[in-house]
Amino acid sequence: MDNPVTVESEPGERVSIEVHLPGRGWLAGLADDVREGLSAPFKELPSKLFYDERGSQLFERITELADYYPARAERRILTDRAAEIVAAAEPRTLIELGSGASAKTRTLLDAIAAAGRLETYVPVDISEQILRRAAEELIDEYEQLRVHGVVCDYETHLERIPREEGAVIAFLGGTIGNFRPGPRRSFLARVATLMYPGDTLLLGTDLVKDRERLELAYNDREGITAEFNKNILNVLNRELGADFDPDGFEHVAFWDPQNEWIDSRLRSLRSQSVDVPGLDLGVGFSAREEMRTEISAKFTRERVEESFADAGLELAEWWTDPEGLYALSLARPAG
Ligand code: SAH
Ligand code: AVI
Repeated sequence: MDNPVTVESEPGERVSIEVHLPGRGWLAGLADDVREGLSAPFKELPSKLFYDERGSQLFERITELADYYPARAERRILTDRAAEIVAAAEPRTLIELGSGASAKTRTLLDAIAAAGRLETYVPVDISEQILRRAAEELIDEYEQLRVHGVVCDYETHLERIPREEGAVIAFLGGTIGNFRPGPRRSFLARVATLMYPGDTLLLGTDLVKDRERLELAYNDREGITAEFNKNILNVLNRELGADFDPDGFEHVAFWDPQNEWIDSRLRSLRSQSVDVPGLDLGVGFSAREEMRTEISAKFTRERVEESFADAGLELAEWWTDPEGLYALSLARPAG
């Protein structure tokens, strides 16, 4: 089965958008995963379901929260090191996986432009509205820039992303931590096989630290993360006609020291049954039953180096913020 592809661009226009999503709505390709996740003894949902338009907006609000330090720390590293990153990577093209609103990307684009190298930006995201908005804004802000957006699930359509030699592939925000270790290994290996010898990978990873700080980042005092987490139920209601009551669940997020990840869940506040007509499925929850919605793995430098080595990459540069909370690393094809 293949998905319909639409590419929109007028000759001479500086923005084009390629869409690789199933014609039946963006959840269609994920229906089997949702069915499996809701039918298992311990229920689990794919975290990419967070990012409908509202979910993407809620994530943007999370990145502005005092308690969510990863976004602030990554922004700080980018601001301090953008010129160094560009000098080391010498990119003509910036490909960004999970680009979202491309907010921090501007720092990199400014540095690439200052080095006189700015040609093409390729944002890649499953969230169509936010990608379109970011692409339109960017061509207004950068006169020399061509933007070729790719709306896809990078887990299934990575190989469709157009590549020219001389690219830096950025994967920021710590989103690599949302993969489990097995899929993370294969994803990085697939990214590596797509890289030309002169390409680089710029990877953002949140680092292991004290439990208190980690847990506060995922249990923020303004309750935005809780809203973000529950939004996954609104997505299932809209896309699959389900009748989840978001008020019937509470947000739970805790540090798992064995796996070194934050485990985010929704806990059912009562015994309840939910209908999911789009999957022809009925789902029962007992009181206090928990369903996992996301893992957010945290890293050490050794773990990042190991992950690169497993994928056939090698660490070239490692930068952290002054507090050592978060790291950006630059990797190249090994050998
Ligand atoms: N890079 C941005 C956004 C991070 S949020 C930042 O650092 O602020 C994670 C982003 O990855 C979201 O925009 C989400 O839509 C996107 N995303 C998550 N899973 C994805 C997938 N499988 N394929 C494509 N995009 C995905
Ligand atoms: C996008 N991703 C790296 C975020 C994270 O920290 O795992 C998503 C998020 N979930 C809760 N808060 C933010």
